[in-house]
Amino acid sequence: MEVKKAKITSVGHYLPEFRMTNFELEKIMDTNDEWIRTRTGIEERRILKDEDKATAFMGAEAAKEALADAGVAAEELDLVIVATVTPDYLFPAAACLVQNMIGATNAFAFDLSAACSGFLYALSTGSMYIESGRAKKVLVVGADKMSSIIDYEDRTTSILFGDGAGAVLLEESTDGTGFIDYIHYTEGDTNCSLYQHAGGSRNPASHETVENRQHFVTQDGRTVFKKATMGMADVSLEIMQKNNLSPEDVAWLVPHQANLRIIDATANRMGLSSDKVMININKYGNTTAATIPLCLYDWKSRLNHGDNIILAAFGGGFTWGASYIKWGMK
Ligand code: ACO
Repeated sequence: MEVKKAKITSVGHYLPEFRMTNFELEKIMDTNDEWIRTRTGIEERRILKDEDKATAFMGAEAAKEALADAGVAAEELDLVIVATVTPDYLFPAAACLVQNMIGATNAFAFDLSAACSGFLYALSTGSMYIESGRAKKVLVVGADKMSSIIDYEDRTTSILFGDGAGAVLLEESTDGTGFIDYIHYTEGDTNCSLYQHAGGSRNPASHETVENRQHFVTQDGRTVFKKATMGMADVSLEIMQKNNLSPEDVAWLVPHQANLRIIDATANRMGLSSDKVMININKYGNTTAATIPLCLYDWKSRLNHGDNIILAAFGGGFTWGASYIKWGMK
């Protein structure tokens, strides 16, 4: 009996209009365009300025675009998964808000928290609902309003992140294309290398946590950089080897956009030339769970039916992984 596969049948996105360039950052902190570009590859990032809008709004806009593109009504959805570390509220989940905003009245919805690997984890989760036959149409969203947890007095983190959302619709594949394989890893990080210290049940919000700026992302950049470079490169090579893929077989690498140097190291390890690597970090910075679907959106007109694509990510947790998909859209 042939095992069912899930394939991506449309991609949507949302990016806030406001562009925060490196030159804007130069005006508010001790940094410069040259340092940011050479250390990270980032030139500008988008910031959601509207105070009444947050992650769910961006996710819903990306979802609406994906549904319209596929000609699928929101009522047809069985499941909505939102990967995010910046939900509008601790609860209800951002996915519940998205479900309401798009009118997916027949879908159940939940958030998935795996930081920058969130979209990859959510894609494999959503695919399994299709493969098992328990769902016919699954919406997977990666959305983060990183500007809501960034300390613009900390030059080591604020330069890296931007806001945005991407969404894909998953449906059953009948032609052998779709989600083929994944490898996911987790290494629980109790050393606080990449954390938001307060706001959860361990350190609920208080005057002290606000005064001590503990509601922002803090990280040991060098440790994260080393772990991310090794993790993403190793797992990308591992999924190629597991599926007997040579560099010639791989049409595209879709890497999480954290740092151009991490992306280059991953592509080198896989033996891929730079023309096979999706890179938009220069325009959007690190949008956490949104980087991979935003790449798919930017490149979708260049993807061919049957293309072998490797998606790879590393993020807080630590979480990391890679997925192998055969592109199913025509
Ligand atoms: N502008 C100017 N100088 C800066 C800035 C800045 N924005 N930030 C740090 N510096 C200075 C440092 O103070 C240091 O100065 P010193 O030598 O006088 O002490 C110098 O630049 C070098 O600092 P490093 O931390 O060694 O710089 P590095 O080359 O490691 O780059 C960076 C820092 C970009 C943060 C890098 O470590 C990195 O990308 N780490 C990964 C972090 C990451 O991506 N986190 C996101 C979440 S996880 C993920 O998505 C994979």
